[in-house]
Amino acid sequence: MTNQIIINVDVEKGTINKDIYGHFAEHLGRCIYEGIWVGEDSTIPNTNGIRNDVLQALKNLNIPVLRWPGGCFADEYHWKDGVGPREQRKRMVNTHWGGVIENNHFGTHEFMLLCELLECEPYICGNVGSGTVQEMSEWVEYMTLNGESPMADWRKANGREEAWDLKYFGVGNENWGCGGNMRPEYYADLYRRYQTYVRNYGKNKIYKIAGGANVDDYNWTEVLMREAHWLMDGLSLHYYTIPGDFWLGKGSALDPRAEEWFVTMKKALHMDVLISKHSTIMDKYDPAKRIGLIIDEWGTWFDVEPGTNPGFLYQQNTIRDALVAGVHFHIFHKHNDRVQMTNIAQTVNVLQAMVLTEGEKMLLTPTYHVFEMFKVHQDATKLDVTVNSDTYELNGEKLPAVSASASKNASGTIHISLCNINHEAASSVNIDLRGFAGDSTKVTGRILTAEKTNEHNTFEQPDNVKPVSFENFTVTNNELTVTLPPMSVVVLTVE
Ligand code: AHR
Repeated sequence: MTNQIIINVDVEKGTINKDIYGHFAEHLGRCIYEGIWVGEDSTIPNTNGIRNDVLQALKNLNIPVLRWPGGCFADEYHWKDGVGPREQRKRMVNTHWGGVIENNHFGTHEFMLLCELLECEPYICGNVGSGTVQEMSEWVEYMTLNGESPMADWRKANGREEAWDLKYFGVGNENWGCGGNMRPEYYADLYRRYQTYVRNYGKNKIYKIAGGANVDDYNWTEVLMREAHWLMDGLSLHYYTIPGDFWLGKGSALDPRAEEWFVTMKKALHMDVLISKHSTIMDKYDPAKRIGLIIDEWGTWFDVEPGTNPGFLYQQNTIRDALVAGVHFHIFHKHNDRVQMTNIAQTVNVLQAMVLTEGEKMLLTPTYHVFEMFKVHQDATKLDVTVNSDTYELNGEKLPAVSASASKNASGTIHISLCNINHEAASSVNIDLRGFAGDSTKVTGRILTAEKTNEHNTFEQPDNVKPVSFENFTVTNNELTVTLPPMSVVVLTVE
């Protein structure tokens, strides 16, 4: 059977918010330290302490927004320990992540510099679990108040005259778990209280994000929306793709088995169900869809690489991760009326990372390449797409093999992204570009694929998995016939 895709080029479905391509970097393992921050005295080339190779790689992704400092770390982080002369900053134990010493050398000023260099919006997550209302309020004052005030004066004394622009602020993280083990009713009350003092100074207008549900905890969403919806701009949701069991064994990132591949895809596709159900609850209180569903932690979570610190969450990244990223983006696009931002966990050396580092070496992961290929969708107009896909079957279970999304940019160029999650069979796809008035013979493509289910990049062979030019399609009038190899991500450009 041939897969049928209909793209109604003249039926526009809103904008694909660029923030859907957001990131998350936590003080966890080697994400911040080593992965991003090496310090000004490092032999690794750096800009004010931020390593240049990683910076350049990330700049190429057009990262729109970066979440920091956690995660679980956020609810133990006391921002005042991370400003002022670095050698005088307080040292603490990072109890959540490996029990290592955190020297606080990467703090507010360093994070804001990173965002300036990446030209992205900062998204700061405040401490509700172990912090005070005053501490949170003063952090916002420190960052965003221009003029005279105790915190603004302190910022200036620490070398930054102008306030920063800060759009996104999260009021706690996973407050049902590492952020305080709270009941939703209790957190909803704390959210109402803490957010009161997250002030807008001058022209800075903060988009406030309430800590949201874990996976399918629909009651959490119901209670937060019922008790506080008018006080929030966004409500978060966390869902990781874990092929195994979180506590009993998540599975190896490099597992070559077809079963592991299949169950990973099945769990990745579950994101669609979660968004639909949480959105239905949100619709009840916010039918106009003012409040964004902010999926500020998502991605694969495997067992750590053998021999690495279990608290560092370091895992390899294969073509399987690339497909997980691709199908997630298709799901996020589908829900662009409610999903306003997402943040993959995490940017460097942790979980489903974009780049991995080892000393001065760096490699780009297959996931990186999907973010790079899909960046054409950022802030583009979503087009109406219908996909009739073949099924992908294993041991009697069925999944749709092909997913797709299409968008049109400001100059009228159309980009079509396609994923074939089938690990062993190619898919032939017929694309009907209905209403396309241009010269559809001008089609170019790029593909990311691999021969083996666990193919990945290493420091010795960093280009095993990388995008190449794709020409396996024919064009007749407004119809494209494309052959997608097994395990492939394709982006077509139609002009
Ligand atoms: O991303 C790793 C951790 O996963 C985060 O710190 C936490 O919020 C989540 O449980």
